[in-house]
Amino acid sequence: MLKRVYIETYGCQMNVADSELMFGVLGREGYLRAETAEDADVVLVNTCAVRDNAEQRVIGRMGELQRHKRPGSVLGVVGCMAQRLGPALLARVPRVDLVVGPDGYRNLPELIGLAQGGQRVSDTGFRPWEHYEDVPAVREKGPGAFVTVQRGCDYRCTFCVVPQTRGVERSRRLADVQREVAGLVEQGTTEVTLLGQTVNSYHDGEHDFADLLRAVGDIDGLRRIRFTSPYPTDFTPRVVDAIATTPAVCEHVHLPVQSGSNAVLKRMLRRYTRERYVEVVAELRRAVPGITLSTDIIVGFPGETEDQFTATLSLVTEADFDDAYTFKYSVRDGTAAVRLKDHVPDEVASERLARLIEVVRANVRRKNMARLGETHEVLVERPARRGHLMLARTRTNQLVLLDLPATAIGEYQTVRLTGTTGSTFTGAVVLPQLAVL
Ligand code: SAH
Ligand code: F3S
Repeated sequence: MLKRVYIETYGCQMNVADSELMFGVLGREGYLRAETAEDADVVLVNTCAVRDNAEQRVIGRMGELQRHKRPGSVLGVVGCMAQRLGPALLARVPRVDLVVGPDGYRNLPELIGLAQGGQRVSDTGFRPWEHYEDVPAVREKGPGAFVTVQRGCDYRCTFCVVPQTRGVERSRRLADVQREVAGLVEQGTTEVTLLGQTVNSYHDGEHDFADLLRAVGDIDGLRRIRFTSPYPTDFTPRVVDAIATTPAVCEHVHLPVQSGSNAVLKRMLRRYTRERYVEVVAELRRAVPGITLSTDIIVGFPGETEDQFTATLSLVTEADFDDAYTFKYSVRDGTAAVRLKDHVPDEVASERLARLIEVVRANVRRKNMARLGETHEVLVERPARRGHLMLARTRTNQLVLLDLPATAIGEYQTVRLTGTTGSTFTGAVVLPQLAVL
């Protein structure tokens, strides 16, 4: 009998990669991918637990999915929210059959079998050895691929639930990563994004992140390497040098700062000061000309004063970010920040978030206006949401809309940046691709 699985993915890129692993685990058992939840025998929702609004969205979506559930079909919650809430989710959403955390995906076929037999099951065990090394991920077609190189996190940022949901930090062996990427390149992949919660602290016992970048960079036919997310103070001189001297490594780093106030950074248990962060930014800029930097920022962390918040505003211009993801602090059960004093009222946090977004936008717009007329190599990724244009990306992570046919997907083109909305660009191809006759 044909079995079809549908996976809906929320949250970060690692969740996207984990969903591809789940398709791999189930693909080995003969499952095919369903295009919609209605067509599927098994529906899995891969969840994020980092902020409460991410969880609320999933709860809402689960309500819809369980209303449309067919007799005999299986509905499961997987990922970080599944790990955090465990069996409590079974109680909360009555028609959910299974709850599986990030270390339990290998057991999905068996757990689905139990669910089909009428049981409601959960698996939230931590398996610190688990890398799914033998599972062939089933990826979306396209020129780029996510490759998880490190799972879990050993840092203890006081706001963050990830160490509770993804367990201890561990790195895959360099040779295993290299083999996987080489296999992807053989199938036509030309860009990989290496994933880990503190990816630049990668260490397989023998090799560090610098070794990994060089090893992956040596693979013939791979044109672009990205990685996310590094921890600011894990950029050793070796790693900076590997970024600077490995041609495939792109000139863009996502470098979460969280706050521009030393007092707040300390309460967050971030392991750097504002001054040290700014030094790391300067080191990267010196080593890699033209590098762009994006970041993550939280406002309204417990005890954040108006002055501490304005220190974050001033950091946006001092570090001169090219992009920033901005969040209102969300209290997470079981994290140390719960016990901090002086939680910031929601209205104050909302107002700060709006002011921060304005400063970020102004900085990004100013920088992007200055880029008009520049020439960049882009990789054509996919059709843009609207119209007939294609979406392409520069090595520095700017998005460019191009008037090209869908057959251009996967091509590298040289383009001139001709216009900008302030965030994305329009561009024109300046050099026709040279045909090899
Ligand atoms: N180390 C991971 C962090 C994962 S969480 C990485 O850098 O990829 C991603 C981002 O979500 C964090 O950088 C932080 O800015 C934000 N975040 C995490 N916990 C949060 C919370 N409790 N409230 C608001 N934002 C949070
Ligand atoms: Fe979270 Fe800090 Fe780790 S943000 S994922 S605890 S580095």
